[in-house]
Amino acid sequence: MKSKNPLYEKAQKLLEESIIYYRDRPVGTLAARDFGREALNYDQCFIRDFIPAALVFLIEGDTEIVRNFLVETVTLQKQERRIDCYQPPPGLMPASFKVEMHQGEQYLDADFGDQAIGRVTPIDSCLWWIILLRAYVKATGDKALARQPDFQEGLHFILNICLGPQFEMTPTLLVPDGACMIDRRMGVDGYPLEIQALFYAGLRASRELLVADEKGKALIQKINNRLGSIVFHLRTYYWLDLKHLNQIHRYKGDEFGESVVNKFNIYPDSIPYWLTEWIPDRGGYLAGNLGPGRMDFRFFALGNLMAIISSLASEEQAQRIMDLIEQRWDDLVGRMPMKICFPAVEGLAWQIITGSDPKNTSWSYHNGGSWPVLLWFLMAAAQITGREELGYRAMAIAQIRLAEDEWPEYYDGKNGRLIGKSARKYQTWTVAGLLLAKLLQENPHHLSLFAFEEDTEASFCLI
Ligand code: GLC
Repeated sequence: MKSKNPLYEKAQKLLEESIIYYRDRPVGTLAARDFGREALNYDQCFIRDFIPAALVFLIEGDTEIVRNFLVETVTLQKQERRIDCYQPPPGLMPASFKVEMHQGEQYLDADFGDQAIGRVTPIDSCLWWIILLRAYVKATGDKALARQPDFQEGLHFILNICLGPQFEMTPTLLVPDGACMIDRRMGVDGYPLEIQALFYAGLRASRELLVADEKGKALIQKINNRLGSIVFHLRTYYWLDLKHLNQIHRYKGDEFGESVVNKFNIYPDSIPYWLTEWIPDRGGYLAGNLGPGRMDFRFFALGNLMAIISSLASEEQAQRIMDLIEQRWDDLVGRMPMKICFPAVEGLAWQIITGSDPKNTSWSYHNGGSWPVLLWFLMAAAQITGREELGYRAMAIAQIRLAEDEWPEYYDGKNGRLIGKSARKYQTWTVAGLLLAKLLQENPHHLSLFAFEEDTEASFCLI
């Protein structure tokens, strides 16, 4: 049901105006419609940006655009790519695509990272694509689309990359820097939480979508093994609360053997001072990253909220994450829901981690900026945990400013009061994020399109 409230009517109109048509059919939405700035690639349809818009369309019954998007992107996935003579493996989904003309004919030009700033690999795209395919099937009952050979092949390609052999001793997915929403160098290479949460949700969705023929069954078995071990790994080793911080604080280093306590050789001195004061007595979160000798203690919003939505976090952990958000509200939500990560890296750490990136200075953009698109994740997580009031509070804050500020991409400053230095205005996922949060507020049943209950099927690791 489309809203009668003027703010939401305005948002709805903006969302409709952002629709891209390909051969007269709607296929996606522009990232932004800011005519005051150079478009760069904001005139493209980004897979990750389209997700909240697609969920709004599905909820409102405009399912055709989502179907077209899924059909076109699965075709793009099969396009052969060559980057400086190198051919990446089949399975990747593009970061974005655009409608172009050649000899009077329209075609879709896709960027798989071969055109993107920094040549970042959009690993989240293929995971979001699976999550969206499940949502489409749930909303429409159109199981036949997912069962089509080209869709099954698309799924197999993605799963073969994600579940194929790696040089790895952990069940997490190893990725280069900038492989997700934070698509610039920000020290999110290795095993960043956001990718692990999307990987988990993507595997859960795949299990529902795969046709159980011989190849499908083999993949489902692999998925079940992997799901159990990811859950164990994340819930055990990524979890940070005062109790766990106390343990790390007293860790011994350089332990050898199977049953050691400090498995990843995290040195107590790597605990940043801010965290010892910031971590509340009650409350916790999943760390940003974990690898050999390295724990990224920063809080990343999308990964933590998606861990709640996908049930990657346990019920208890989900409650503690919401406790943290409530108790550190000024830092994490402030004047615009919500911070992409906390805290910002500054000074020498900024130089080393970002490569002195002028767009990612402290408390700006990916480095501690506030992103309104995160509102819908917060609303969903608040509803799943029965902490609705936190979602409503966030919504009330966002509602005051977004229209007046012309729907910015992100905000700057410790408390999110400044419109982002280089933020695009009329950013579609800002608009769609607000609409989706509102639709969820009105009817939490829509959560079932993209959320997952605690898993009972995977093979659990008994330790
Ligand atoms: C920026 C964001 C990225 C987003 C894109 C289009 O590059 O970092 O997450 O997909 O803009 O809005």
